[in-house]
Amino acid sequence: MSCVPKVLKLNNGMTIPTIGLGTYKSAENEVREAVKCAIEVGYRHIDTAWFYGNEKEIGSALSESFRNGTVKRQDIFMVTKLWNNFHDRKNVVPKLRESLCSLGLDYVDLFLVHWPFAFKEDGCTLPTSSSDYSDVDYLETWEGMEECVREGLAKSIGLSNFNEGQIERVLGHCRIKPVVNQVEVNPNNNQSGLIKFCKDRDIVVTAFCPLERIGKSREPGYPTATVLDPKVIEMGKKYNKTAAQVVLRYLLSLGITIIPKSVTRSRIVENFEIFDFDLSDDDICYLKSLNKNIRVSAMVQYKDHKHYPF
Ligand SMILES: NC(=O)c1ccc[n+]([C@@H]2O[C@H](COP(=O)([O-])OP(=O)(O)OC[C@H]3O[C@@H](n4cnc5c(N)ncnc54)[C@H](OP(=O)(O)O)[C@@H]3O)[C@@H](O)[C@H]2O)c1
Repeated sequence: MSCVPKVLKLNNGMTIPTIGLGTYKSAENEVREAVKCAIEVGYRHIDTAWFYGNEKEIGSALSESFRNGTVKRQDIFMVTKLWNNFHDRKNVVPKLRESLCSLGLDYVDLFLVHWPFAFKEDGCTLPTSSSDYSDVDYLETWEGMEECVREGLAKSIGLSNFNEGQIERVLGHCRIKPVVNQVEVNPNNNQSGLIKFCKDRDIVVTAFCPLERIGKSREPGYPTATVLDPKVIEMGKKYNKTAAQVVLRYLLSLGITIIPKSVTRSRIVENFEIFDFDLSDDDICYLKSLNKNIRVSAMVQYKDHKHYPF
């Protein structure tokens, strides 16, 4: 059996666990139990964001897990993200301090710029008019991200939803390299080009929406989720695995990290049990053939923003 690694090395020498728990839309009353359950099961990587509004509940789950001795702080790889209203350099460190306060932590392992485009600081978090856009350049934001590392508030910093040209611009100006680009990756959008581009620059890709956000909001016209594809369900039976496990195992084989979200105990367990089987070349070939370059999450309403990435 060809093993997939449980951690990947980052360009600053740290390691990132290849599977983490996603928490977008994990409601206040559910996320605390979900995080505690994930830690019990063996997850050591938790993904959140200021925008998700659940950092406080996640912090409460973490402090309980530290208190009862399930894990130590240094065992957890905690990720949060800077929202688009706070891209001015002066806001970056204070916003991370705010997230740390909610999480009850002294530092995060990874702090990401959530999107390359900015909104006005005093406007809505999801503006409906371009008059609420800000044209602050993400290079300025990146300087603030670097301050977070210098102040010891983030062990590492990275990007999310950045395209190749935007990554190249950051690399051309940075003092501290981004370690990760978190983007959507799933069988419908396997990002083979961007993954290669990032690997060539020693940047790890983290896959969001790995399960294509099954059952939840997506861009109009989105095809059927891969986990509902009868061929993938059949494939799973052969390995005594579910279609979701097949999809997650396929994504790990791309040399990336994945952050499936669930608030359901049985699924949190299921999504973690993907290290004990291997997919045949034919099955990988079929999963590859499903690529359509279609996104679940494209934020198309901001396509007129000068820093829109897609
Ligand atoms: N950087 C960004 O811009 C960005 C954007 C989107 C997402 N993210 C991050 O990536 C994470 C994952 O993406 P996502 O939450 O959008 O989508 P996802 O992980 O692809 O899908 C989550 C959905 O799948 C269900 N699910 C989970 N495991 C399952 C299984 N084994 N079988 C059947 N259904 C299952 C969950 O249901 P239950 O919860 O009800 O079990 C939930 O409805 C997010 O939570 C967030 O942390 C980042």
